[in-house]
Order: sequence, then structure tokens, then C-alpha cells
Amino acid sequence: MAAAATPLLQRPAWKALEAHYAKAKDTHLRQLFADDPSRGQRFTDEAVGLFLDYSKNRITEDTLRLLLQLAEESGLRQRIDAMFRGDKINITENRAVLHVALRAPKGEKIVVDGEDVVPAVHAVLDKMSDFSNRVCSGSWKGHTGKRICNVINIGIGGSDLGPVMAYEALKHYSQRDMTFRFVSNVDGTDFAEAVRDLDAAETLFIVSSKTFTTLETMTNAHTARDWSLAALGGDEKAVAKHFVAVSTNTEGVEKFGIDTANMFEFWDWVGGRYSMDSAIGLSTMLAIGPDNFRAMLGGFHQMDEHFRTAPFEKNLPVLMGLLAVWYSDFFGVQTVAVLPYEQYLKRFPAYLQQLTMESNGKHVTLDGSRVNNDTGPIYWGEPGTNGQHSFYQLIHQGTRLIPCDFIGFYKALNPLGRHHDMLMANVFAQTEALAFGKTPEQVKAEGTPDWLVPHRVFGGNRPTNTILADKLTPETLGKLVALYEHSVFTQGAIWNIDSFDQWGVELGKVLAQRIIPELESEEEPKLAHDSSTNNLIGRYRQNK
Ligand code: F6P
Repeated sequence: MAAAATPLLQRPAWKALEAHYAKAKDTHLRQLFADDPSRGQRFTDEAVGLFLDYSKNRITEDTLRLLLQLAEESGLRQRIDAMFRGDKINITENRAVLHVALRAPKGEKIVVDGEDVVPAVHAVLDKMSDFSNRVCSGSWKGHTGKRICNVINIGIGGSDLGPVMAYEALKHYSQRDMTFRFVSNVDGTDFAEAVRDLDAAETLFIVSSKTFTTLETMTNAHTARDWSLAALGGDEKAVAKHFVAVSTNTEGVEKFGIDTANMFEFWDWVGGRYSMDSAIGLSTMLAIGPDNFRAMLGGFHQMDEHFRTAPFEKNLPVLMGLLAVWYSDFFGVQTVAVLPYEQYLKRFPAYLQQLTMESNGKHVTLDGSRVNNDTGPIYWGEPGTNGQHSFYQLIHQGTRLIPCDFIGFYKALNPLGRHHDMLMANVFAQTEALAFGKTPEQVKAEGTPDWLVPHRVFGGNRPTNTILADKLTPETLGKLVALYEHSVFTQGAIWNIDSFDQWGVELGKVLAQRIIPELESEEEPKLAHDSSTNNLIGRYRQNK
């Protein structure tokens, strides 16, 4: 696999960017726009129906040229080719990274270990479609002969966040006479609240787990099984009608008692956080129907093709990824806010948190040496305009620099009077205010008393991207998610890290397994942790 030969900090483009940053770091966006009135048209890009305005970033033509040079020097082109070719670029797990194969059209060929994986992808999609049609038409019946009206996805991480986000994002297109819920947390409240008003005879559980070993998911799945059987007279045969599984682990699924005929397969070359287009999206397909699901895959594929083929200077994910590197590594930015002005995208920032942070929260490069630069920033956000009345104060006037992605649509899915114009006016107003701010002179000119002036000054110079699209459709959602996936890829390629493993989640899991029996045992356990952990466990045991 092609890895950048020269360490990041020694690449010529990196050194040039350091020198460039030293000169350019204090230049104000006011100045950049005043010097170049066409900037707002030039620093834009449009592809596959997504428009990106990146003119309100603290960059010049030189910055862009050097960032693009950095991409070349970092071997981004070779890394992209390696991913699409099916090379095992997830080196610590020795796996290919082929979420792009999940949305490859029939007839395309992507080979892993000598086998073309595209036919298998389509076979699973067909099986999902058939199942969805049977459930939604009512021909798939529950154990007592009632039709299924409720679907509960049990999963966590990538086996939950994608399905929840997509369900919320595409609710407008969903079958409204069915109820969809998602149980992820091992906190019993999550399960209890999800089922409290449901009839088990009408409820289908999808147990979604790549490994089929995850503590939270397996615990919730067993609880769901007990809940169903208790309500359905204890007949084990009921499981076949009320439980299906999505997994790579056939043995685990069988052991749980789910008939493998009711199992939807995916593969180890699909990372958990990249799995929403695999069978992990079964709840999404049940909600929006097979045609809409395939339209979403079509959107993903269009963005994949754009990422694979467009020159870097016209490549949306590459540009966004390079800007993220520019702020993280040169401005020392710690966080990025993603602010969708579309209520249906309310779970999009939460989804992006796993995508971005599990991928690029890494401290070593591919060869295991410690990075000498910052890697993935913290992603967070809330839908607009709600965030404006909470944390935007800090973005506008706080001491930290927080680049923001604003996402808006030309058309509303629920056009109600003046609502949409008001919503979009806020997108444009916020990015304008963040870039240009308000000077002391402007504040004074409004008749503000001198003592109040500093409080009312807006420094501006706060960078934003604005992403616009026609309206939120399944296809657009696919494009948007793929945009961020490939932006994450771009960042990881520059940093020369493995964006596809997640060893950082292991230690806590192992320690929890050790502590569970210490909390449950009747006899006083011999605790051998540090004094704080021993004390906390002892206190919990005494008071539970
Ligand atoms: O804890 C991290 C993680 O491994 C994620 O990467 C993954 O999406 C999630 O757990 C769930 O894993 P599984 O689908 O195997 O239950």
C-alpha cells in the first residue's frame, strides 16, 4: 500500500505552509474580501448537486496551492486508488476498506482476496428488499398472526448511529403507519422506554452487530428476547418471527437462536462507522422502502465517483479535508462545529462524531511512530437555529477559534409560510457575522456608550464552510454522508494514520468485563485496582 515516504513535518509543502502561516495568520477575512471582490464566487465548488462556498475561510490562493501540494506529497491520489482497488489499507486489522463497494452499481467489479464482492452486495440488497416488502405489506406476520407495526433496531456505535441518523433524516419519506425505535445503551432505561407502549405480537427486533459480541447489544438482545417470549407465551418458535440479525458472525447469530435464514450478512471490509449502507441499514430500508434506500446508495456512489476522479482543486471532500488539516495543524484548532439548518438532520452531528473521531482520533502513524502534529479535531453540533440561542455566543465572541460547517437547502420539505426563508436568512447572517464581525467604530457609530463598546464588538475572522443542496432527499443524504467520509479519508491520508481501526475503545471494554463480576458477586470480591477504583466499587456495592 502506498504510504507517504517523507514524514509529514518534513514534506516541502508542510514547511512552506508553516512559513506561509506565519505571514498569513493574522490576515482578516474583511481584508481578504476587500482585496478580492470576486472571492465569494471563486472559492466555491459544485459537484453532484452539492454547492460548497469555502470563501469565508482564512485562506488565499497560496494557501490553497500549498494545501493541494501537500495532498500530492502525502500520496493522497495513491491512497484513494488503493481504497477503491480493495487493497488492505486498514493495516492494523489487515482489512480492505470498501464501504464504496456497498454502493457500487451492479456490474462493477471490486476484488477482495480474489473475489468480486459486488454480486454479494447486491444479493444482500435483494434479500433486504424482499424482506422489507414482506414486512411493510403485512405478508410477514408475527407469531400470533398479527402484522408487524413496530421495528426496533438493537445496536450501538456504527450499528446504531447511522440507522438512527438516516431514519431521522429521511422521516419525511418513511412509512408513517409503522413505529421505528432504536435501542443502544446498556442502561436498561433505553430498552424499557423503547418497548413500554408496544405490543410484542406486533414488534420486530433487528439485532445489528458486526461482531455479534458487543456487550451492550447482546445484553439488550437477550432482554428483548425475554420480553418477547414472556408476552408471547414462552414459545421459542416466536423468535423466528420477531428477531432478525445483521452481522458478519454467522456462528454468533446461530448461538443466539436466530435462524440464519433471517440473517442479513455483511463483511469484515465494512467498518462499523461506514456501515449504514450495508445490511446495517435494514431499519432504514424498512422505514423508507427499497427504492428510496437504493436512491440513497446512488447518492453515495455519485460522491464516491467525484472523490475518485475529480482533480483535487475541484474535489469537494479533498478541499474540506485539507481545510480541516489547515485549521487543526496550523491554527491549533481543537473543534469543528457542524450546523445543519434542517431539522431532519438533527442526529447528523452525532453520527459524524463517530465517523470523524473514531476514524482520526489517532496518535501514531501507519508505521507506529508517534505523530508530531495534531490529528482529528473534535466534531460537534446541533441543528440551526436552536444552537444560535445557546452556544453560538462562544463561537462569535469567545476566545477559541471554531471553524463551522453550515448546511442548508434551497427547498423545505415542510414549506410553511415564511419559515424557510427565515431559516436560510439565519444561515447567511451567521456566516456573514462570523466572517466580518463588527468593529468598535461600527459599535460606537450606533450610539453605544464607550464602556459598553468592547462588550458589543465582534472580532469576526471566524471561518465557515457553507454547503447548499436542493432539498433533503435520500440521494442528497447519501452525497452528504459520503462527502464527510471522504473528507475524513483525506485528513487521515495527510496525517498518514490508520483511519479505519479503533483500538482506543478496547481498554475500557476489557476493564468493564473485569469489573462486572465484582459488582455482581454475592461474596465480597478481592479488589486489586487502584485505590480510587476500589473505593468507588466498594461504595457502589454498599449502596446499590
Ligand atoms: O466500540 C466501538 C465499536 O467497535 C464501533 O467501531 C462499532 O461501530 C461498534 O463498536 C459496534 O460494534 P458491533 O457492530 O460489532 O456491535
